[in-house]
Amino acid sequence: MLIKNSRFGPGGVRPSEIAPKDVWLNRRELLGNAGFGLAALAAPAALWPRVAHAGRKLEDLVKSDWVVDDVLTPLEDITTYNNFYEFGTGKDDPSRYAGAFKPLPWSIQVHGECEDRGTIDYEDLIGSFPVEERIYRFRCVEAWSMVVPWAGVSLASVLQRFRPTSKAKYVAFETVYRPEEMRGQKRGFLDWPYVEGLRIDEAMHPLSLLAVGVYGEELPNQNGAPVRLVVPWKYGYKSIKSIVSITFTEDEPPTTWNRQAPHEYGFYSNVNPERPHPRWSQARERRLGGGLFARKIPTLKFNGYEKEVASLYAGMDLIEHH
Ligand code: MTE
Repeated sequence: MLIKNSRFGPGGVRPSEIAPKDVWLNRRELLGNAGFGLAALAAPAALWPRVAHAGRKLEDLVKSDWVVDDVLTPLEDITTYNNFYEFGTGKDDPSRYAGAFKPLPWSIQVHGECEDRGTIDYEDLIGSFPVEERIYRFRCVEAWSMVVPWAGVSLASVLQRFRPTSKAKYVAFETVYRPEEMRGQKRGFLDWPYVEGLRIDEAMHPLSLLAVGVYGEELPNQNGAPVRLVVPWKYGYKSIKSIVSITFTEDEPPTTWNRQAPHEYGFYSNVNPERPHPRWSQARERRLGGGLFARKIPTLKFNGYEKEVASLYAGMDLIEHH
């Protein structure tokens, strides 16, 4: 976000910039079939992409219509180039330090303007709602992007269970606060806990996802285990990680980055190539895993989901309400 890390930043070559996971797996098979199997096995581990630890395989994943026809970002890039300030501000801090975080067992408290306040356990969440695989574009405000096979549950279906009242105009989300497990929370570079919010119609939109996995397995800690939000038409910082609390509110809730730098980050944070960030353009983006010489690609309005979400903002000035 505000602090840019150049170690793996734009232009940095990394071993993962080789191929997405299945291409990588296929290549291993090909090498084996071609008689290179032993050589491949004997190769130093460093030659193979390092796949960060993920949790259990998610069973009974439901295929979804929300699928972007694009090259998947390699799992290693998704799990080693992260923003999760609870573990530090560097892109590799989350994958280095998130091992200290023990997410399970987990439950989310739901309160505020709803008929049935209560909690939902992680096991209940993945056991009682269909867990869908959805391939989404994901665009960070820092102008990098990915294409991610998320696994998750429709946010709307979870919210409906708690029966929001007519006063519920917004939904506020909060990340867990555990400084003993999240070393970044011992430092004051953000006001903890991390908080985010959506308007209720945005939260109820069928694209809004409570993600519990990636590439068919439970979320690695650095990606927001065990439950994080994914709102694909908004900049990545709206996709709050490791959620412990959801509150239906009548008033617009505070959001971490708006509180931190209100002139730079508004409440809506819709991907908008026409509105530059005050310090850099939002017109183009760099795909993670694309390699050193990959050309930047144009950023699409609402990150390519204009057809699905533009009507939510009919008549609004999206430069003013950024
Ligand atoms: N959630 C919490 N709790 N803390 C964070 O620092 N960073 C946000 C978002 N959610 C963040 C967070 C930002 S800036 C981005 S771009 C995405 O997470 C990154 O998600 P990823 O690491 O899975 O790519």
